[in-house]
Amino acid sequence: MTALDQTILNRRSIRQFSEEIPSKDLIESVINAGRLAPFAAASSLNKYSRKFIVVSRANSILMELAEIVKKQAQKAFEELSRQIEVVPGLKERANIFMGRLEMVMKQGPLGIGTAPYYIVVAEPKGIPDAQMQSIAHCMENMWLKATELGLGFHLVSMTGQMGDNPDFCTQINLPVGAYKIDGCAVGYPAFGLPPKPEYPSISEITTWFL
Ligand SMILES: Cc1cc2nc3c(=O)[nH]c(=O)nc-3n(C[C@H](O)[C@H](O)[C@H](O)COP(=O)(O)O)c2cc1C
Repeated sequence: MTALDQTILNRRSIRQFSEEIPSKDLIESVINAGRLAPFAAASSLNKYSRKFIVVSRANSILMELAEIVKKQAQKAFEELSRQIEVVPGLKERANIFMGRLEMVMKQGPLGIGTAPYYIVVAEPKGIPDAQMQSIAHCMENMWLKATELGLGFHLVSMTGQMGDNPDFCTQINLPVGAYKIDGCAVGYPAFGLPPKPEYPSISEITTWFL
């Protein structure tokens, strides 16, 4: 097994963190891995325009951001509740997501304030709309690098709903509505690796045309 195989195998969503704060150098290594991930060149005038915003738990902005996300979750919940009344079958499909929104409304967003670092990745909106895929590549590189460095990492995908939120964008100095964004939480894991989810075998999920 190569070092890369091992890192891919060890990658997990780590959602509980110890009090220990990773050094700025370690966080920079994680960002560097994201910096070098592929980007949607044709959608961004062939220009590299990915940005990273790192907010540490020591900065009071973090709690402001958590409050803003909480309010946004409330709005999204109310909007979905209205749609459920008129769109057949939506209730069943939206059920799990609405449960998540309720959790954010009650407890705040997991990863914003619960980890030493919350990192937002931002790319200017382009044509075609490929920025979320581009950011996902960046996140995966960061995730694997964090794993290799012994850091815990989880996605904070509520961040994806915040790019048009004026309060959120103003707090992190991004122009409102101009960027697609996503976020992640990073710190040292509080516990060992959680069990790997059950995966189907390659043959079960692969169709070959040879
Ligand atoms: C698009 C996407 C969004 C996700 N959003 C979140 C999130 O907001 N919070 C979280 O804790 N995990 C999030 N996850 C992580 C998944 O729940 C997780 O990867 C999956 O359960 C498998 O577990 P593992 O990451 O430990 O292998 C997300 C994963 C993907 C691919």
